[in-house]
Amino acid sequence: MFIAPLQFHFGTTFAITFYRICGCLLVICMAYSFFNPVSQVVTTKFDKSYLNFAFRKKHITSVMSAKSRLGNHIFELAATLGISKSIGRAPVFYIQNLYYMKMLKETNETIPGLIDQFKIRYEEFPRNNRITTFNTRCCIYQDPDILKNIDDDLIILNGHYYQSPKYFPEMRKILRSYLKTPENEYRNLPKSTESNFINCVHVRRGDFARYDFHVSEPAFIKKALTYIEKQVAIQGKHVNTVLFGDDLQFMRQLIGNATELLTKAVCAFLL
Ligand SMILES: *[C@@H]1O[C@H](CO)[C@@H](O)[C@H](O)[C@H]1NC(C)=O
Ligand SMILES: *[C@@H]1O[C@H](CO)[C@@H](O)[C@H](O)[C@H]1NC(C)=O
Repeated sequence: MFIAPLQFHFGTTFAITFYRICGCLLVICMAYSFFNPVSQVVTTKFDKSYLNFAFRKKHITSVMSAKSRLGNHIFELAATLGISKSIGRAPVFYIQNLYYMKMLKETNETIPGLIDQFKIRYEEFPRNNRITTFNTRCCIYQDPDILKNIDDDLIILNGHYYQSPKYFPEMRKILRSYLKTPENEYRNLPKSTESNFINCVHVRRGDFARYDFHVSEPAFIKKALTYIEKQVAIQGKHVNTVLFGDDLQFMRQLIGNATELLTKAVCAFLL
């Protein structure tokens, strides 16, 4: 097994070609409307997104933790979207200050299709709007059904982080399709082939380790890696594992001496 610890942020490494496909569709639509006089008449100056916002009367948003990092942003947006779907409301993202602007920019660069699901408002939450207590503790799931009884036009949840995938059930495929191809090709990372299975493992420690909170033990991670390796071997493939994380020392301990040289080379390049 070859393991290369990398110390940069998790979400930035994902890839899709979704935007290219949309680009092609857009060109086809533009060409169609140019050559078709009827569609030119239909193309008026309505701002459709505004209409959606105005006529779909019930909305939902959440405070979120705009100061935090990309992984949190993706979870918060995916969860707010999942909750909005499950209770039949339209999701709104309020750019309340520069942190929210930064959050929008980062998620728009990494997973543009996700932020596109939200109506964007460049203002603070409406004054006098009630704030609803929801998901105030880390790493628990609270059933959004309790929000169905609320009649407010806009529900503002005071929750943040939303560290449970249960908030966006059965959305794996669609969320992945929102990811954008990164410009950096990460040439020094192994690539999947017919015979090579690339196993990417995100080891999140940081403040979790400092506060003795929800971190995986080395023994657990090693057993999980061995399990995956065995499953992949059954398919006749070889496993290359890439560790991502914020604790290089911990990841080094995890992999022992065998790959130390490679570790240094890869990290020196990427850091
Ligand atoms: C997201 O990025 C695209 C491409 O840079 C840009 O055209 C679009 O306006 C951005 N969306 C928002 C909501 O800022
Ligand atoms: C790593 O190398 C050091 C020094 O050569 C050795 O003492 C240690 O046992 C090795 N650790 C592993 C996990 O192989």
